[in-house]
Amino acid sequence: MQQKIDQVVDVLQKARRDFPQACFASSLGAEDMVLTDLIDKHGLDIEIFSLDTGRLPEETYNLMQAVSERYSTPMKVYFPDSAAVENYVAQNGVNGFYGGIASRKACCFVRKVEPLRRALSGKGSWVTGLRRAQAVTRVNLEVSSFDADFGLQKFNPLLDWSHKDVWAYIRNNDVPYNKLHDEFYPSLGCAPCTRSVTPGEDIRAGRWWWEDPENKECGLHASKSSQVAHGFGVSASSDALKRRVQTFLEKS
Ligand code: ADX
Ligand code: SF4
Repeated sequence: MQQKIDQVVDVLQKARRDFPQACFASSLGAEDMVLTDLIDKHGLDIEIFSLDTGRLPEETYNLMQAVSERYSTPMKVYFPDSAAVENYVAQNGVNGFYGGIASRKACCFVRKVEPLRRALSGKGSWVTGLRRAQAVTRVNLEVSSFDADFGLQKFNPLLDWSHKDVWAYIRNNDVPYNKLHDEFYPSLGCAPCTRSVTPGEDIRAGRWWWEDPENKECGLHASKSSQVAHGFGVSASSDALKRRVQTFLEKS
């Protein structure tokens, strides 16, 4: 286990040393709590941020508060553009994401992808808690690769960790975690798009449970082709992006 931990710290060191300014995207999920603990413990100059979609479960906000009290590394929180959310709700309804993949991805775009684009602006690299075993969409990821969607190096230090490794680290180091994990929510996102799983079900079965497994990405980790297909090239200016979102919402 110690060897695995040392390897993760090496990857984090490489990100901050070779690709400054490095940042870490934390959803406050179990994997992200491991990385938060390691970044804080080793005093690594990696900015930690989270995207508050406005639809997170109460337990996630409680954890966000606990994290700010436990760790000295601050966590910056990004919110969606209010006008974009207002447009989305006006055109799709407040729970419009249940209406089909297009309206679900549009909601994820407004509440997650556009704020992520702002969070990554001016950064040299970003770190995530992605693991290969989480989903069919993640098996071919690499520990370090250029993220063409956002135009910077991306690091996935826990890529080859198992669910068991993650929880061994959390227990051994008394790391705070989301209490919903104790209620059969192994993977957590927004409250309306996450349900608990039953024994034997896939760990991401509760995420967007009404969709097929190959659609279960929100655009944070989408391939370039899928974003281009939606007309969301991320190198565009903020105004251009807003116009594209608007056009996309009108069509969906
Ligand atoms: S998701 O794309 O299906 O929502 P998942 O919950 O598995 O992603 O998280 C994978 C990684 O994406 C996390 O480890 C984290 O790095 C990043 N991530 C996901 N959601 C957020 C969020 N709300 N804020 C910051 N980072 C996030
Ligand atoms: Fe919207 Fe659901 Fe995506 Fe959250 S997970 S941004 S509520 S569609």
